[in-house]
Amino acid sequence: MVPAICTMDDLQALEQRALDELAGCQSEEALRAWNSRYLGRQGELTLALKKIGSLPASQRPAYGQAVNRLKESLQQAYNRQQSALREQVIARRLASEALDVTLPGRQPSRGRLHPATQMMREILAIFAEMGFQIFHSREVEDDLTNFELLNMPPHHPARDLWDTFYTTRPGIILRTHTSPGQIHVMRRLCPQPIRVVLPGMCYRYEQITPRSEIMFQQVEGLAVGTRVRLTDLVGTIQAFARRLFGRDRQVRLRSSYFPFTEPSLEVDVSCLVCGGRGCSLCKHTGWLEIMGAGMVHPVVLRNGGYDPSRFSGFAFGLGPQRITMLLYGVPDIRLFWSNDLRFLRQF
Ligand code: DAH
Repeated sequence: MVPAICTMDDLQALEQRALDELAGCQSEEALRAWNSRYLGRQGELTLALKKIGSLPASQRPAYGQAVNRLKESLQQAYNRQQSALREQVIARRLASEALDVTLPGRQPSRGRLHPATQMMREILAIFAEMGFQIFHSREVEDDLTNFELLNMPPHHPARDLWDTFYTTRPGIILRTHTSPGQIHVMRRLCPQPIRVVLPGMCYRYEQITPRSEIMFQQVEGLAVGTRVRLTDLVGTIQAFARRLFGRDRQVRLRSSYFPFTEPSLEVDVSCLVCGGRGCSLCKHTGWLEIMGAGMVHPVVLRNGGYDPSRFSGFAFGLGPQRITMLLYGVPDIRLFWSNDLRFLRQF
């Protein structure tokens, strides 16, 4: 119950009480409550003013003025208390949220390219500079293109070189190498001359070991024309190997066998670690194998639509993971797809 106020003494008591309470207001919330209790529309001062009617007319002007003065001085006291409180809040925040702008910034964490992507781009850039176009071929292949059209009929023993992932659809497999892309390119471009590289993932149903994975990348190369010779293949491989491994790398060609090339070669470079003297990386041979290659077999040319009596071609296939392992001393091929950041961050 608000006490009935209508004498000057009452006003003085009211002022004292209001100021005492104001001094105790330590939050915005308390201040707001105080404000509506004393200065609000239903506040004590409004009520005090309404009491004026019960006074004799002669006292009314003085009383009215006193109420108004009191109202004004309480309003000022309120404003002072409010700004003091706000300053306190700001001062407290400044102290607790102090920011040292001279500290070095935090390094934002930026993503980076996977080492496999980096190496793939490097290899493709070298071939692109030599005039090879990039051709993307499918990863889900048919048995026909992956084997038969590459001169490996159904029971050819060379199929044993590639353990295959079969799908539930008869004749549909995951490609075991990028070589079937040769057929796709030839059929697409025949009878134009061809100079392409075919990068991509290959799959083999093999035991996973430090040296073999069930998925890995390959880069296939194919050149077809009316005057493509073995010397063109040798020159291309040499230029590539020197660009990727360094100017003073030696390149060695060994005779080999692939069903889709004749003659077939395996390509070695002089060891990156010992330069050819012999060490554990090259198993004391002085050489590291980097790719298979050869002159495109006439059967394959014909399957691609090219007449082998007019056209000839060379092809090669290399494994970027293997090359990255040689160049950077990566001991285990499983590191490539294991998503171990400690490995990936080194590139
Ligand atoms: N496709 C072979 C493999 O996966 C690599 C290869 C060897 C590709 C000789 C070629 C080549 O184009 O001529 O082992």
